[in-house]
Amino acid sequence: MTAADWDPRALPSLDGRTVVVTGGNAGIGYFVSEQLASAGAHVVIAARSAEKARLAIDSIRSRYPDAELAHVPLDLTSLASVRRAAEELAAFRPLHGLVNNAGRVVASRRRLETEDGFELTVGGNFLGHFALTTLLFPALAPEGRVVGLGSDSTRMVKLEPANLWSEGRYDAFRAYAYSKHAVTGFQLELARRLAAAGDSRRSLLAHPGWATSAYAARRPGITDRDPWRGRLFEAATGWVGQGKDRGAWPVVRAVADPDAANGMYFGPRRELAGRPVPTRPVASAASPEFGTWLWADAEEKTGIRFPV
Ligand SMILES: NC(=O)c1ccc[n+]([C@@H]2O[C@H](COP(=O)([O-])OP(=O)(O)OC[C@H]3O[C@@H](n4cnc5c(N)ncnc54)[C@H](OP(=O)(O)O)[C@@H]3O)[C@@H](O)[C@H]2O)c1
Repeated sequence: MTAADWDPRALPSLDGRTVVVTGGNAGIGYFVSEQLASAGAHVVIAARSAEKARLAIDSIRSRYPDAELAHVPLDLTSLASVRRAAEELAAFRPLHGLVNNAGRVVASRRRLETEDGFELTVGGNFLGHFALTTLLFPALAPEGRVVGLGSDSTRMVKLEPANLWSEGRYDAFRAYAYSKHAVTGFQLELARRLAAAGDSRRSLLAHPGWATSAYAARRPGITDRDPWRGRLFEAATGWVGQGKDRGAWPVVRAVADPDAANGMYFGPRRELAGRPVPTRPVASAASPEFGTWLWADAEEKTGIRFPV
């Protein structure tokens, strides 16, 4: 099968593989977890709510009764929580995948901060994942993969590294786009470092296009699609978007495609929707200068040194 025609509905067997999915309780992360579990992977959902994780696990088991699933508590906006989660997650070693999926646009006009005093959006979406990846890296198997979630918002908002932490001015969507520039810069810098060290582990990126619950397959308690409103919405906008079940495809490809090489980035064929194909990051986030600066900044802020 060539890189262009990879079929997300015919996954290779993932028996014997263990994959951690942050935010695997909801949205795209839920469908990533369900699709990986359907192919036999042992999926560990790292999520802040035990109740929501339980709903997700029950939902996956109702479709795949033999699925191996677990929950580990994780709040990415607290470095103490990330440290506790990394310790618990390391018990599942060897890990074959770490999907850094969790992320959000913070719905506030005011700049908010994480428990550790960093701007909340970049602090949770990027810095929390940087810390988690760093601490869990020794538990990652040879050829294991770390997959970060990029976003088209990086094409809409120009990166200004000096304002990454919104210390000058704050705007919720800009902060979100910055967090995705940072995730992109981190994953690509990790890919460069792994390649330079001759390490067989891989760092990849995926973005879901525009993926909404309104189009997604119904999963009670997780994506409660209203059948009529969902259909109307889909009829009006379906050519530019897709359900979160399909939004999960590029992520699942990054984890499961045997040919997905270190440094690759997957996204939907039609940019906002479609089958998962290789794509390109924005140049500013991909630059080695940004990657090197970001890495040093993240190590200083977290006080955690990366092992490669
Ligand atoms: N949907 C899109 O069109 C789109 C486009 C580009 C990129 N993305 C990226 O795709 C990823 C998933 O998005 P989505 O649309 O599936 O979002 P979603 O439905 O809102 O789900 C977000 C997930 O992240 C978790 N989360 C948020 N803050 C967290 C924290 N501090 N600690 C731990 N978990 C946390 C949420 O947990 P709770 O349930 O506890 O809140 C939830 O599981 C994100 O990284 C997003 O930036 C999405």
